[in-house]
Amino acid sequence: MKVAVIGAAGGIGQPLSLLLKLSPLVDELTMYDLVNTPGIAADLNHIDTDAKVTGCLADEGFEGALQNADLVVIPAGIPRKPGMTRDDLFAINGGIISNIAENCAKSCPKAHILVISNPVNSTVAIFAEVFKKCGVYDPRRLYGVTTLDLVRANSFISELSGGKLQSKDLNVTVIGGHSGETIVPIFSHNSNSQLVSFYESLSMEQRDSLIHRVQFGGDEIVTAKKGQGSATLSMAYSGFRLAESLMKAIAGETNIIESAYIQLDQSIQGSTEVKSYIASKGLTDVEYISLPIKLGPRGVESIEFDILNHINENEEELLSTCLEQLKGNIAKGVDFVKGAN
Ligand code: NAD
Ligand code: LMR
Repeated sequence: MKVAVIGAAGGIGQPLSLLLKLSPLVDELTMYDLVNTPGIAADLNHIDTDAKVTGCLADEGFEGALQNADLVVIPAGIPRKPGMTRDDLFAINGGIISNIAENCAKSCPKAHILVISNPVNSTVAIFAEVFKKCGVYDPRRLYGVTTLDLVRANSFISELSGGKLQSKDLNVTVIGGHSGETIVPIFSHNSNSQLVSFYESLSMEQRDSLIHRVQFGGDEIVTAKKGQGSATLSMAYSGFRLAESLMKAIAGETNIIESAYIQLDQSIQGSTEVKSYIASKGLTDVEYISLPIKLGPRGVESIEFDILNHINENEEELLSTCLEQLKGNIAKGVDFVKGAN
């Protein structure tokens, strides 16, 4: 398994590369960035695990980093500062993602691509449009990374329960997108009945504040870091979780479910049902959404959309607001590439 990390010298890129270097599933790791990767790669190569790490710099071009990559993980771009929204990153990160997509289309069109760079609700659409233009797009292999939202939901409800709910037993479903009100945690339905009972025991105020904390968890970190960026370590953990699950699925392990922001393409089982659900809310043109997905060797095998049949009235309302916003975020990403024609 060859994995390439693009933006590997950054706050997310370095710890994510460390986790990948520790993984027995990785044979080769290439770290690409504008700066510093040869030194960081040399450092990682002193760790006594088998993955071979190479540092590539932008002036050498993308080819060495991307050629034969099975997985490309992209945390390249700028992070938020206090007072900014993720959408404020659109112009700069949109250009960066579009350039990376052009190079992936040339050097590794069959790789699985994990987009971390914000605003994810739009950067995934940008990546897809570039791949479409290059004639190499397969929606089953493009993932916007939203794992941090469910990792936060697990942590926050565990904290609120005073440790009665242990994080290791939790897997909260979070659907929608990856920014503010587009993040919709589903606490009312879960295979862990203790979690649901605990949630039901909360007052309406406590429930609202828990949901708000998951939706705006990113702001907590941006504020705490006082201008020095946004979440990096929890993101590296979350990005690795998705990458590791995908590597296992590619290696043939079955029944692997994760959540990611993907396109509702007809090649993916369950897309039609999700589109019908969205249409029933009076909306069209919401082509991307984060939902639980089953992973296989070719990428996204199916969408586990049953969760949509179990959400409560409040979650339905939150999802309607989310879908309205997603529609605009997606259109902005698509126009960014189409407008450049
Ligand atoms: P950072 O500034 O620490 O690192 C970004 C790295 O990207 C830097 O090393 C920079 O040199 C590199 N870079 C910039 N332009 C590049 C290019 N054209 N090619 C290759 N590398 C390039 O930022 P960070 O904290 O690692 O965050 C990176 C991105 O991830 C941000 O956009 C941030 O908003 C996003 N993010 C997303 C999530 C999520 O849940 N999806 C979570 C946290 C952060
Ligand atoms: C997060 O959720 O932590 C990231 O999207 C970074 C940010 O800008 O908040």
